[in-house]
Amino acid sequence: MNNTTTEAKLGGRFTFAGTSLTVQRIGYGAMQLAGPAVYGPPKDPDGAVAVLREAVAAGVNHIDTADFYGPHITNQIIRKALHPYPAGLVIVTKLGARRPADGSWQPAISPQDLIDGVHDNLRNLGLDALDIVNYRAMGSIHGPMEGSITGQVTVLADLKRKGLIRHIGLSNVTANQVAEAQAITDIVCVQNNYNLANRHDDALIDNLARQGIAYVPFFPLGGFTPLQSSTLSAVADRLGVKPMQVALAWLLHRSPNILLIPGTSSVAHLRENLAAGQLMLSPQTLAELDTIAAATGAVKH
Ligand SMILES: NC(=O)c1ccc[n+]([C@@H]2O[C@H](COP(=O)([O-])OP(=O)(O)OC[C@H]3O[C@@H](n4cnc5c(N)ncnc54)[C@H](OP(=O)(O)O)[C@@H]3O)[C@@H](O)[C@H]2O)c1
Repeated sequence: MNNTTTEAKLGGRFTFAGTSLTVQRIGYGAMQLAGPAVYGPPKDPDGAVAVLREAVAAGVNHIDTADFYGPHITNQIIRKALHPYPAGLVIVTKLGARRPADGSWQPAISPQDLIDGVHDNLRNLGLDALDIVNYRAMGSIHGPMEGSITGQVTVLADLKRKGLIRHIGLSNVTANQVAEAQAITDIVCVQNNYNLANRHDDALIDNLARQGIAYVPFFPLGGFTPLQSSTLSAVADRLGVKPMQVALAWLLHRSPNILLIPGTSSVAHLRENLAAGQLMLSPQTLAELDTIAAATGAVKH
């Protein structure tokens, strides 16, 4: 397969604003590679390695992770599967949480927590510097919560000056928090919960697109409870593809600054997800899919 074909297959390419990092628009989210509830080792460690190797062999060069997945385990699997890393592979990680022995998710947002988190990522991934680090704000079960993130972003900016982090992103944040962080340092990506059925970030996506900043939806397929919609299924049946492929193709059509990091522990699902880059959706089909969020009221402009 030549490069042109690979590019077209994976949704085309995107360069993070103000960086030399260019990725295919379809990447891979590694959270599903840890054990149940993202804690402990996976049931099938060899299968996890196989998924990562298949992704990279297919041309994926953007992997999303966190050292608190497992904890440590997902990063260690990435290292085992892919180190020494191929040129051009962009590994994006995040800071802001820790996983005590009870498996809960706790904030890790003090300066020392953030510094320790960078070193955990460097050690477990086997890197000297991290390409992109997202500061992941805790928020509530309903999503991001307003509140200053200046302290945490300032620590990340300092780690960037020291050369341990190349670029900074944000996760689970509001538009106000993006603006607050941009007053401190350059922000290259925002990773929030967004998909066909949850469109609270529509206005933020458009704003970031105008600035060339990547928007990377987490839970692009609905997350722990994958999307279910009769409209989505009907469109998929009509096009002869899988509903999850339509959900990913819709995101690629939604805005050119959207990058995908669907998560899967299955090579078969990975192949389906990567193939979504070839699916063209007509304006009529896009309008039909837009009714999914409109019906749930999850659209905000
Ligand atoms: N910043 C944050 O706060 C945050 C939060 C959550 C996630 N993330 C990142 O975002 C990435 C994506 O989110 P996610 O993995 O939680 O959710 P997701 O990509 O929306 O969905 C993953 C779920 O969909 C299933 N799935 C994947 N491909 C499928 C297919 N083709 N057909 C049917 N089912 C399929 C997976 O099961 P199988 O394993 O069986 O395929 C898994 O249950 C994560 O991997 C992680 O890197 C970030």
